[in-house]
Formats: sequence, C-alpha cells, structure tokens
Amino acid sequence: MDVAQSFSGLVEEVRDGFGEDIVALRREIHKEPELGFDTIKTAEKVLAALEGLPLEIQTGVAENGIVATLKGEGDGPTVALRADMDALPIHEETDLPFASGTDGKMHACGHDGHTSMLVGAAKALSGMRDRLNGTVKFVFQPAEEGGGGGRVMVEEGVVNDVDSIFALHLWPGLPFGVAATKGGPIMAAADAFEMTVRGSGGHGAMPHLAADAIVIAAQVVTALQTIVSREVNPVEPAVLTVGEIGAGSAFNIIPETAHLGGTVRTLDAALRNRMPERIEELAKGVAKGMRGDAELDYKFSYPVTINDAGAAKLALGVAGELFGKESAEELVHPSMGGEDFSFFLEKVPGAFVWLGVGDVSGLHTPQFAFDEEILSQGAALLTALALESLSG
Ligand code: NI
Repeated sequence: MDVAQSFSGLVEEVRDGFGEDIVALRREIHKEPELGFDTIKTAEKVLAALEGLPLEIQTGVAENGIVATLKGEGDGPTVALRADMDALPIHEETDLPFASGTDGKMHACGHDGHTSMLVGAAKALSGMRDRLNGTVKFVFQPAEEGGGGGRVMVEEGVVNDVDSIFALHLWPGLPFGVAATKGGPIMAAADAFEMTVRGSGGHGAMPHLAADAIVIAAQVVTALQTIVSREVNPVEPAVLTVGEIGAGSAFNIIPETAHLGGTVRTLDAALRNRMPERIEELAKGVAKGMRGDAELDYKFSYPVTINDAGAAKLALGVAGELFGKESAEELVHPSMGGEDFSFFLEKVPGAFVWLGVGDVSGLHTPQFAFDEEILSQGAALLTALALESLSG
C-alpha cells in the first residue's frame, strides 16, 4: 500500500532527537521490573519522562496505567498507540550492566522497550502537532502478562473515543529492524486450566490398596494430547500444553491427589469454546476408569488478537516507507502466543505489529536481550503510524 506522506529521515530525526533518552528510560525500567498491575515505579518513570510535553495526562487507569493525550491542529480522528509496562516472574541471567535489581523479576518480554518506544513517540509527535489532523492517545498499560490489564483499560473506557489503535512487540527470530504483521488473526486465544486428579493414597509397597493419583495424572496428560491430534481438524491450529504437574511428598507414599496446570491456544471461537468440555470429559473418563476422578477449573483468558485488514495494510505501508520495502513483511502465519491487546482490537480496528530484534534468546527466557538500536526505529514506527492515521 502506498502511504500518503514521506517519512524519509524520520528514523534519524527520532534517533538524533530522543534516542539517548529512550535508551536511558528503557534501562531505568529494566533495572526495576514490576509485575502485573503493580507498575507503580514504572508509571512514575514514564510520567517523569513525559513531563513538559503538551499532553493531557490521566493516571490511575487500570490501577497503575497512564493515558496521555496529544491534541493536534485539526479535529480529525483519534488514534491510540499502546505499550505494555509489566515484567515477568523470571530470574534474569544476562550480564547487562542494567540487569534487573530484583531477584525473580525480569523484563523478559521486552515491555520495557515497548514503554520507552512509546515515550519516544510521544516526544517526537509533540513536536509535530501541525502535522496531526486529530488526536493521539498514548496508552501505557499494566498487567499484560496474565492480569488482563488491556481488558480493564477497555472496561474503563480508554478506547471509547478512539478510531484506530496500534501496538508493537519486539520479536526475536524476525530479522532485526523488520516490521511484520497481517490482517486477521495474528495471536491466539490463550486460555488456562488447572486440574486436580484424585485417587486414594497408600503405601508405596501396596498399590492394590490405593488408587495412584500420579499414574492417573500421567494417563490424563497423555490422553489430553489426543484432543489436538485426533479431534481437531489438522488444518486448524490448536495447542494444548500441560506445563505444570505436581504430586507426592515422599518416595514410598502413593499420593491421593495430583495437580496439573496447562494452557490451551486456539484461533477459532467455536473450537475455543469446545475445549473445556472435551478436556473435562476425557480427564474424568480416564480417571474414573482408573478408580479416581478429575476436577477441572478452566479459565478463558485472552481472546484471539485479530488485526483489521486495513490497519495491517497501513502498518505495512508505513513500515515499508520508513524502513524500506524489504523490511516490511506480510506474515503468513499467526503466532500461537497470546496477547491482551486483543481486548482493544475487539473494540477498535487496529493492528498488532511485530518488530524484529534478530536471532536473540526468545521472549520469556532469562537470557532475553536485544540491541537497543531497535528502540529508535520502533519509536519512529509508532510516530509514523500516528502521522499516517491522522494525515490530512
Ligand atoms: Ni509481551
């Protein structure tokens, strides 16, 4: 798609003007990671970085989120740009000089980068109000990693007056500096379950007097794999992962219960809705057959992230103009990862865009790190997305 304006020199302009600030803010946030809705210090850092800009600022949105509004010259539409602010309960294993100072917490999903890129875009766009025929809302969201901060922001009305919305995510495995997106589903629905498998306990030497919850749980885990492999149409993507299993207290005791935790990823709403029933039926059936029982606690969490076709096209056009056509990639396949930007996209057309950081350790790993040069590029991309959405 052709874009309405030229963005030549914009990356350099952002890098020369704000690059150092963006990197410094990212490091400050990285050093002090916060989880879930508790992004208190992160919000303080963002507010300090936004000080002096011509923004209307709303704090305390979804507890510790921030919405900053920039009014342009014209009274055209409103575009929102969103960044997530929260970290993960992971112990950092990088040797970065600005590594996490808190044991067991780390910005391992790049949200420190997303937040600082959005601040960079706010700084850049504040100096370009004459080019904005409309309003830009900068949305700093807590609790992407499991808390559903995006849902809360939507419920609090953050996008009620918004016409389109965009968000970036740093993306390992995608070549450095390449922006990639697609119309339609780009991230999967991410749901969660817990299961208690119940047998009856006993002596490790007398299994015939017990119903072994560990053996039942093992059969349940194996049986659950047949839902995706034998019940779902092979051309339809679905994932069922049991990521937690726990039971027992000693080598010679047969435990009464075992605990399983897992996640289910789907792209289709009907399939998504069918999953809990099938998991429960299968688990109960297997457990009953082995003189036990299984109880399922299923939680629908994040819906499918569905990009608007026009917004995805616009993002690819803007990225091509900004970085060169070879650095704007239309994706073929979505990721089965989940993302609570989905809640915004249920309300407002927009696009979620991946920004490549090359061949580095993956998201949610203790070694995740990236070349900070990407931050100015991402800030420029957000800036250009707003400029293009509000041109004219
Ligand atoms: Ni993330």
